[in-house]
Formats: sequence, C-alpha cells, structure tokens
Amino acid sequence: MQETIKALREELSAELAGIKNQNELETFRIKYLARKGRIAGLFDALKNVPAADKPPIGKALNELRSFAQTSFEEKEKQLQQSPIAGSRAIDVSLPGRPRPVGSKHPITQTIDELRQIFGRMGFSVASGPDIEDDYHNFTALNFPPDHPARDMQDTFFISKSILLRTHTSPVQIRVMENQQPPVRVIIPGRVYRNEAISSRSHVIFHQLEGLYVDTGVTFSELKGTLVSFAKQLYGSSVRYKFRPTFFPFTEPSADMYISCFICNQKGCPVCKYIGWLEILGSGMVHPNVLKYCGYDIERFSGYAFGMGIERMALLRYGIDDIRLYFENDLRFLRQF
Ligand code: DAH
Repeated sequence: MQETIKALREELSAELAGIKNQNELETFRIKYLARKGRIAGLFDALKNVPAADKPPIGKALNELRSFAQTSFEEKEKQLQQSPIAGSRAIDVSLPGRPRPVGSKHPITQTIDELRQIFGRMGFSVASGPDIEDDYHNFTALNFPPDHPARDMQDTFFISKSILLRTHTSPVQIRVMENQQPPVRVIIPGRVYRNEAISSRSHVIFHQLEGLYVDTGVTFSELKGTLVSFAKQLYGSSVRYKFRPTFFPFTEPSADMYISCFICNQKGCPVCKYIGWLEILGSGMVHPNVLKYCGYDIERFSGYAFGMGIERMALLRYGIDDIRLYFENDLRFLRQF
C-alpha cells in the first residue's frame, strides 16, 4: 500500500507539471481529487488493510491528499497569473481597440459660442415652433399684407395661414406675448425658405435672433452690444460700420458690417472685393410690433437683431459652400 501511495504521488506530480491550462487542470482535479477520484479510491481501500497497519498508512494517505490539494491550488494560482496560457488569460501585449469619438456639428459649435458670448452679456435663450402661423411670422412683425416676403415664392406654406417660419423673428412675438419687460433673449433656430439650392442659399438654414426691451433702451445700447459681440467673436482689432436699411419690424434699421479679416480689407472673394462683410441686421423694435404684443409704447422701447448662423460659421471656418452643412458627409464633419 505504501508503494502504491508513493507511486501515485510521483504520477500526479509529473502530470501536474505538464498542465498548461484551466481545462487540463480541471481534468486533473476530477481524476485525483474528486469524491470518486483515485485518492478517494485509496481511502476506500483502507478498510481492507489489517488493523495494525492502518495508522501509518492512514497518515501517509492524509499526507498524499494534502500534498495533492496544495499542489493543485498552487498550479491554479500560477495559471491565473500567467499572461499567455489558459482560457481566462489576458494578452497584455495586444494593441487596444480604438473607439471612434464623434464631434459637434460646426453649426452647433457656432451656436454654442454665440450663446456663450451673449450669455455673458445677460441674454437668456428662448425658442419657438418651426411650424408657424402667418400672424406671428408676418402680421405681428408689421409686414404689410402685400409684402413680397409673404409670397409663395419665398415661403413654404402648409395651408393658407400655416407655414414653415422664414426667420426666427416670430419668436420675438411669442416671448413678448408671454412676458412683460425687461426682456433680454437670444433665439437660435432653424428657418425655411423656398429657394433654389446652391452654394450660397439653401431651403433650410439657421438664424440667431436677439431682443432687448426695457424702459429707455436706446440705439447706442444696440450699437454697444453688437460691437462688443463682434470684438469677442472676431478679435478686438476688428473694424465695423452700421449702414441704414429697412426691415418692417424695426425703425430705424441698420445692417452691421465688419472689416474682412480674411484679406485684411485688401479685397478677396469672400468679401467680394469690398473689404467689408455684412454680418447681421438690426434696429429699434417698431412701435407697431410692441403694440401687437400689448406693450405700453410710452414706457418701453427695445432693439432687435438677427444673423445667419451658416454665414457666421462660414466666416469662422472658411467654408464657402452652404450645402456642406446639411449633407452630413463624415469626411467634412470629422474636420471639426
Ligand atoms: N428677420 C431678418 C431676416 O430674416 C433678420 C433680422 C433683421 C432680425 C433685423 C431682426 C432685426 O431682429 O432687427 O432677414
């Protein structure tokens, strides 16, 4: 019996040394250590041994069992730590799998930047519906009934009085209908126009509207705010000018121009060789508009402005085809 024990000890040691993975180790455990394994088999055989020999053989068997158990555990630990062997192993030399990271659309990035600049100047953000009625898009903004902008040629009508908003200005009306002055908001959003698609115009684009109404608001405040805005966006050395123009909803009205920073006013295709870039329209809110919203025009006055966001992004990134913003070509978008 002692011989058998010794032989088994050598056999299992040799077998354990050759084990290379968890599966083989499990086969080993079943073969030797399980309840019906070979060591248990020897314990069963103990009952046939003469009583006088039992103590030393029993002792040798116990030793064999604990030797097998500790050797097994050591091997198990070894396999878990080994980087190359075993089914649960991790190959630390394998290169990582890169995960593609997306980025914000250049229009969203531009809106974010405009929100930050106006946010610092005390403007909060408002929004309104893309599907508008004629009243908010035109009538309350003081468009006369026969104004060409109301024409089917420019506006996507859904029915006689429902349309896709052609500008963000109707949200001015919606804000003033729901709130008494002081009102100080910017309104970024999508607008729609029935135009031929080209590098310069599209049926969808974005605008950012601004509105400030309070007691005693003046044109010089409008200028101060817009000049501060332009300097924050285009740098403090930017030059600017305001030129009189016409909008039904403002009086007086002015377009704002900045010096072309692309050619430094030497003349280039972006500024069409005039050295100046038009960046927005603005003016003092027309009293008729304030009246439509139920504001007391003896107490309150205000200014408004509106700019095209694609144009802002075009100037910022030097992209000269508006269609690129809507095609969602990843080769284009990945550059931002
Ligand atoms: N709504 C005008 C447009 O779409 C832009 C605009 C001009 C908005 C002057 C204003 C403003 O609020 O005061 O062309």
